[in-house]
Amino acid sequence: MKKESTVVVRPARGVVGTLRLPGDKSISHRYAMLAAIAEGTTRLHNFSTGADCASTLACMQALGADVQRREQEVEIQGRGLKLRPPTSPLDCGNSGSTMRMLSGILAGQEFTSELVGDESLSRRPMTRIIAPLEMMGAKVAAQNGGRPPLQVAGGKLKAVSYRQPVASAQVKSCLLFAGLFAVGETSVVEPVRTRDHGELALRAFAAEVTQSESESRIRGRQTLHAIEAEIPGDISSAAFFLCAAALFPGTQLVIENLLMNPTRARLLDILILLGVGISVTQVEQQHGEFRGTVKVEGRTLGSLTISGTDTAALIDEIPVLAAIAPYTTGGIEIRDARELRVKESDRIAAIAANLRAMGAEVEEREDGLNIPGGQKLRGAEVDSLGDHRIAMAFAIAALRAEGETQIRGADAAAISYPGFFTALESLLQR
Ligand code: S3P
Repeated sequence: MKKESTVVVRPARGVVGTLRLPGDKSISHRYAMLAAIAEGTTRLHNFSTGADCASTLACMQALGADVQRREQEVEIQGRGLKLRPPTSPLDCGNSGSTMRMLSGILAGQEFTSELVGDESLSRRPMTRIIAPLEMMGAKVAAQNGGRPPLQVAGGKLKAVSYRQPVASAQVKSCLLFAGLFAVGETSVVEPVRTRDHGELALRAFAAEVTQSESESRIRGRQTLHAIEAEIPGDISSAAFFLCAAALFPGTQLVIENLLMNPTRARLLDILILLGVGISVTQVEQQHGEFRGTVKVEGRTLGSLTISGTDTAALIDEIPVLAAIAPYTTGGIEIRDARELRVKESDRIAAIAANLRAMGAEVEEREDGLNIPGGQKLRGAEVDSLGDHRIAMAFAIAALRAEGETQIRGADAAAISYPGFFTALESLLQR
């Protein structure tokens, strides 16, 4: 049993400075997977430092790709579309992205692989990838109710047109990756548009992918070619610092080299709607992914309702938006967020329990939360429940609380951002 760490966060008076973040987690996973099935050597700079992306690299290595890593520099020697059968189960750790997206690639291999995960991942739903992969011709065995471990028996795949019942970028990427191995053209239609890193990554590696509003299509049997890329800073990690700065009127924070993909940057619009001062400069683009420098200035925060397409676009940022909601004047209401119940933890329950522990009034609903504004929080003992985004969200709530907050299981932050607490501490004014 891993020993859990507790981190104490004391209140602050401001958040000031300049920051660069490790590479985006969603992009790092996809580049690492595609690099392994490309021709040639891929060089990735500013690769994610999170444990999740390390799980992906280890899986690709176990599947025969040569992976060399020096801190955030990663070099992957691709094998072309044929991977090597692994000699033991592929360990996806805590990473749903690894398990779901890699299954798409494994469905096209002529061998059977087993994918396992930690306790949290072993509770997460996999039917969403099993059903369409089986339609394409793979055989996927799971545990009770479609949970991991998974056994993926790959083979010859046929293209399908699939309409996703749940909005999920992981499922979309899984099926586009499987589509690379299929005969014919695979089409995926999503109910709500989600992040398009899978489509952009496939194009970066020279595959042809077409996209209309809600449909993405890929022709099978295309050859991928290695790339060199510098991965933009992770905007979901930046969310914690942006929200921290937002809490202190008059303070200024700058984040350089930040991912600005329009399907991920809704947070910036939402913060503007809440009253925060945001400006973006030095916008550049590489392999279809935009990056820029963001300056954020804290102001008095108003009120917000997050629902529908916004909920899908902000799915990883909702924990921290909820954590700062009591400090707004008008509160934040979150709707259509049932998916949060099946993330690394039940995030709706985790947010409600921890806000209440800090003395806040919260209404918990099956698919969301209503958090009134104008509240004062007190430092308390909160629990990450082993979920990285819950650990980091409550570090931000703690900054404006009265007294200190103890975050149990704070080590979970390392799943996406091991340097989080050090970076935060270096920016705080006391
Ligand atoms: C991700 C998609 C989202 C998100 C996760 C990363 C991705 O999950 O919550 O952190 O990289 O595609 P879903 O696809 O399950 O919504």
